[in-house]
Amino acid sequence: MSTKVRNTSSQRVNQVAPSGIRKFFDLLASLEGVISLGVGEPDFTTPWHIREAAIYSLEKGYTMYTSNSGMPELRRELSRYLKERYKLSYNPDSELLITIGVSEALDLTMRAILDPGDEVIVPDPCYVSYSPCVTLAGGTPIMAPTREKNNFELSAADIEARVSDKTKAILIGYPSNPTGAVMSKEKLAKIADVARRHRLLVISDEIYGRLVYGVKHTCFATLPQMKESTILLGGFSKAYAMTGWRIGYAAANKEIIEAMTKIHQYTIMCAPTMAQVAAIEALKSGEPSVLEMVEDYNRRRLVMVKGLHDIGLPCFEPKGAFYAFPSIKGTGMTSEEFAEKLLREEKVAVVPGTAFGQGGEGYVRCCYATSLADIEEALLRMGRFVKKYRKV
Ligand SMILES: Cc1ncc(COP(=O)(O)O)c(C=O)c1O
Repeated sequence: MSTKVRNTSSQRVNQVAPSGIRKFFDLLASLEGVISLGVGEPDFTTPWHIREAAIYSLEKGYTMYTSNSGMPELRRELSRYLKERYKLSYNPDSELLITIGVSEALDLTMRAILDPGDEVIVPDPCYVSYSPCVTLAGGTPIMAPTREKNNFELSAADIEARVSDKTKAILIGYPSNPTGAVMSKEKLAKIADVARRHRLLVISDEIYGRLVYGVKHTCFATLPQMKESTILLGGFSKAYAMTGWRIGYAAANKEIIEAMTKIHQYTIMCAPTMAQVAAIEALKSGEPSVLEMVEDYNRRRLVMVKGLHDIGLPCFEPKGAFYAFPSIKGTGMTSEEFAEKLLREEKVAVVPGTAFGQGGEGYVRCCYATSLADIEEALLRMGRFVKKYRKV
């Protein structure tokens, strides 16, 4: 008789497919000389003064747990920052929670608000974690398409058409990963109107809120009557080049933050202390570094988008984040075929659009948070590739 344990993973976990991005990185790791436009993270090292603050905190021996909610000083700084930036008042004692990046904040949000069968409306394509986080929390993601012809903005009508009596929330993430789309205030206001009428929560992942080019980012919670029903998620990974520190936050009403903190205290306890110290420094004096990096990303964005057009890959103009999302339909290949062939034949790594949902078919994601030299070389190689395979 077999002694093997039965059903090792839960049905909930089995429902979720492994990340489509990971498969590519496994292949990439086995090749040499690859230029990667794949990974979605800044190529900058965290600004020195931020690293120095953390190093100094270690020298002083700040190595203990902090309060579950995060260091009071960090919550106060964050409250000040949100007030200055968006004129939003969050009580640092009850309406802010410091998390292990937006990743944890997303997971906590879903577990805190969803009951089995509750539905969350999610844009397609979208960041790889959105649907799995909903599913793993027992909810059902309901995908709402976004389209290139509408600048990849999520339409209020598409949301409205998907609202049912099980709908609990709308999850949005603008500026968008993978498309680089930024939603206008007017279009967001229409989504707010749907949320208000159907009494839905809005989870707004604004991790790329600082990375916008020539347009203004609208924080969803600033829209009329939206603060009470919005769960604002933000972080340090992208704007301050702090991906490895694992630090972010949630801002919401007291009841929601209390529910999220309950899960956080039993599963995480608190975000890493030295990362919290670094985040305080980032909020206090990181602004010049953010502006410098944004300027740099913008230069690369312009080269990337023009370059893609020039080699025959039409590209919607991204106004935020650090991604370009060109159409590869002219090659007749699927996104996966294109990305895999390009990697094998020209050693350029891009991510197939389908890693972000079915709505990503016909597109690939190219991250331009890499050196201009690498972007130019990647474009050269991609140009050769497109010339070889272009059908129309
Ligand atoms: C849209 C979006 N949200 C959240 C995250 C996760 O960020 P963090 O490093 O804060 O966990 C990412 C990371 O790529 C992202 O692109």
